[in-house]
Parts: sequence; C-alpha cells; structure tokens
Amino acid sequence: MFTIITGAQFGDEGKGKIVDVLGKDYDLVVRFQGGNNAGHTVIVGDDTYKLHLIPSGVLTDARLLIGPGVVVDPIVLIQEIEMLRSAGIEITPEKLGIDAKASIIMPYHIEMDKLREQRRTEKIGTTARGIGFAYIDKISRDEVRLADLADRAAFPRLMDELTPQKERAIIDLGGDPGVVRGSIPDYTGYGATLEPYIADVSHELNRALDSGRNVLAEGAQGAHLDIIHGTQKYVTSSSTVAGSACMYLGVGPTRVDHVIGIVKAYITRVGEGPLPTEDHGELGEALRTAGAEFGTTTGRPRRCGWFDAPLARKSVELNAYTSIALTKLDVLDGLDPISICTGYELDGKLIEHPPILSSDLARCVPVYETMDGWCEDITSADTFSDLPAAARDYVHRIEEILGVTVGIVSIGPKRSQVLFVE
Ligand code: GDP
Ligand code: IMO
Ligand code: MG
Repeated sequence: MFTIITGAQFGDEGKGKIVDVLGKDYDLVVRFQGGNNAGHTVIVGDDTYKLHLIPSGVLTDARLLIGPGVVVDPIVLIQEIEMLRSAGIEITPEKLGIDAKASIIMPYHIEMDKLREQRRTEKIGTTARGIGFAYIDKISRDEVRLADLADRAAFPRLMDELTPQKERAIIDLGGDPGVVRGSIPDYTGYGATLEPYIADVSHELNRALDSGRNVLAEGAQGAHLDIIHGTQKYVTSSSTVAGSACMYLGVGPTRVDHVIGIVKAYITRVGEGPLPTEDHGELGEALRTAGAEFGTTTGRPRRCGWFDAPLARKSVELNAYTSIALTKLDVLDGLDPISICTGYELDGKLIEHPPILSSDLARCVPVYETMDGWCEDITSADTFSDLPAAARDYVHRIEEILGVTVGIVSIGPKRSQVLFVE
C-alpha cells in the first residue's frame, strides 16, 4: 500500500500529528520534498517532538527515509538525531536512510536566502533556511548531494569549483563572502557522520511495495505553497502537491493507493501572501491563542481566519484526495456562530474557485455562510458520535463542500486525541 499525505492549505495543518497516528500501519515513512523550513509536531503523552527533517513516523516501528527531493541542512539533521537520542530514541542507519542524491543546504544558501529577502521590495517572508537557493542549485546542476558531502576526495574539489561563484553571488547581494570558505572544513565532518545513512530511496521504496509492504509519504508545507500551483510568488521552492511525491521519490503514479489531505478546521498562513479570510481583529487573535498558532520552525505568529472553501476546493483538485483528516476542530470550541467562506466577490462577480493570480486573490472579498457553533470542550471525546451535533454538522458541511470523505477528525494535539469517522 502506498499512501501520500499532503497539507491542503498553507502548511502547519497538523501533518506531523496525523503521520504519527497513521504510522503504526506502515513499514516505511518517507519525506519527499522541502527541508527544515518544515516543522512537524508530534506529541505523545507528555513529550513533544518538533521535527524538521526526520519523518514524523519516528515514534513508530517504521523505517524512516529522506528522499532525493529533500534539501538537507546537515547541521539541523545531526542536531535532530542527537535530540532524539537524548530522548531515548536511537536513530541508527537501520532506522533512517537518506538518499545519496538529497541536496545539501550549504551556509551560502542560507546567507543568500537572507540577503535576497532583505533586498526584496515585496517580501516573501521565507523561513531563512536557504531552501530556495538550495533548490536553485539542484536545477542549475551546481548542487552538493549527500554523496558528494560524504566523498572525502571529491568534496574539496567540488567546493574549489563552486566557491568563487558563490562568493561573487554573495558580494552581489551585498553580503560578506567569508561565510563560504570559513565553514567548509566542518562540512567534511558532517559528511562522515551522515555517510552510514546513505540509501537509494527510490529502489528501496519500489522493492518494499513489490513485497507488499506499506509506504507512507509525508509531505511538507501545503498545496498553496506549491512552487507551480501555489500563490506565487509567496510560495516555497518545491512542489507540495500529491503528484510530486511520485516524481520526487521515483515511484510511479500507478502505485498510489491513498492520498490523504490534512485540512485545518480554519486557515492559517505564516509569511507573506494573500489570505482572503485573514482576520486582524478578535477572531484572528482567538484562533491564534486557542490553536497556539506560532510557527514551529521560526516562532512567527501565524495569520488566522475562517475556513476558506474556494482554496480548499482548489486543493482537492490539485491533489485528488481519497480522504481528508480534519484537524484542530477543538480550536473552534466556544466560537458561535462559526463562519465558512464559500466564495469570493471579485470585480462585482461571485466566484467559487480562486483566481489564478495572487494579485487577484489578494483583492477577493470573502462571502460567508454561518453555522451554529458549540460551547462544549470536545478535546476528550472518544468517538465521532460523542461530538456535539453542531460540531458533527460542521464536519459534514466541509465534507459536502469538498466532495471528499472526512476519515479522521483531530480534537487536540496529542496522539490520542483523534477520532476515526465511520
Ligand atoms: P505540520 O507542519 O502540518 O506538521 O503542523 P505543525 O506541527 O507545524 O502545527 C500544528 C500544530 O497544531 C502543532 O502545534 C500541533 O501540536 C497542533 N495540533 C495538531 N493537531 C491538533 C488538533 O487537532 N488540535 C489542536 N488544538 N492542536 C493540534
Ligand atoms: P510545514 O511543513 C508553513 C512558508 C514560509 C514562507 C514561504 C517560503 O511545517 O507545514 P521558504 O523558507 O520555504 O522559502 O519560505 O513558505 N513555509 C511554511 N509555512 N509551514 C511550513 O512547513 C512552511 N515551510 C515554508 O513561511 O511564507
Ligand atoms: Mg509546521
């Protein structure tokens, strides 16, 4: 069985939690794109794990893989392995494999990301982790792959070739080129540390599927941050929609069994870019507080608003979800009435599908329908039918709007706070 999980909004939908919940049914859990711009939270009992690169199946028995489409900051990865080790979770090469072709985020990528962002007249609000510049180097064939980093003879030669152009690029962006050479010796050490984990992820996944094993592909970010289909230019630098899992992992599309969309019961966005239902007043503040909506990676406050059906419908189109996990329903406890944005008004017309350009999306005025809220605390419900009728109605309304079944409802951050809908 091959299942792909992707975020259906602007990231931070609760992918980490759902991957952890489902992980027990999978033999392999694999990250396929993005890098440590991602922050996936898994909470089991009293322990909280904020994962940036290690797949969120880490607390299950599954083997973990990082695919060739991921951009890996070795410092962050090594720190994450150490963080888990100190929590009693050994990340051995039997547990984790990293593709030889995964791109390495180098210090100059991070520096260039920061410098470019400072100089932009219209900011993107990147996570400043060097993601975009690492992907640029993949496309321009100037990347450093994990295999290169771990090759003690080839790595210095590659650096000799790349260094002058990176120094010039940093000078052009108004930065200090010293960052390029200064850190190279440390990177040889990181290569040696990570060498035992090197794997051929595509081959391993295909063999696993051939032998009837179960594979869960964990997306990062969300549909509207997709480099091609998202709200350009306010997007990340990788493809975040389900189809890209096949492409990044080297697994053919005919092998896909399930595509699960992670949908937050409202909407959030961190960074710049249009968000039609964003609320700058009391509601936004209430959602941010109740949902603890602060970036897992950067700590930035997330922008919040009511559920946006046009954006969600577009996500369903882009991903062809077979089912939905609706998360953070508990955050709506006590909000009455609850609004759903069912369409937009743009240039005097009512539309139900988002306009293609971000500049037009930014001009859209949301049109809302309202539903009854509920006053109960739903965080300890045991079954879906235990939920107040208004909460169940809200879930069913979202199902109706999206035309996709909601299979899972999440009612709190912990692994146990999850309801499977019959
Ligand atoms: P991801 O990037 O999609 O994995 O999501 P993040 O981990 O960045 O952000 C989701 C946040 O919401 C984390 O703090 C989770 O612990 C938390 N969370 C996940 N599901 C729920 C839920 O159903 N209810 C509440 N209240 N919090 C949740
Ligand atoms: P997870 O996987 C939310 C956003 C950044 C910025 C834009 C580009 O935790 O859902 P980048 O550093 O990728 O070049 O930044 O994308 N962004 C995310 N927002 N969740 C994420 O990941 C994100 N990863 C990147 O805030 O707007
Ligand atoms: Mg996150």
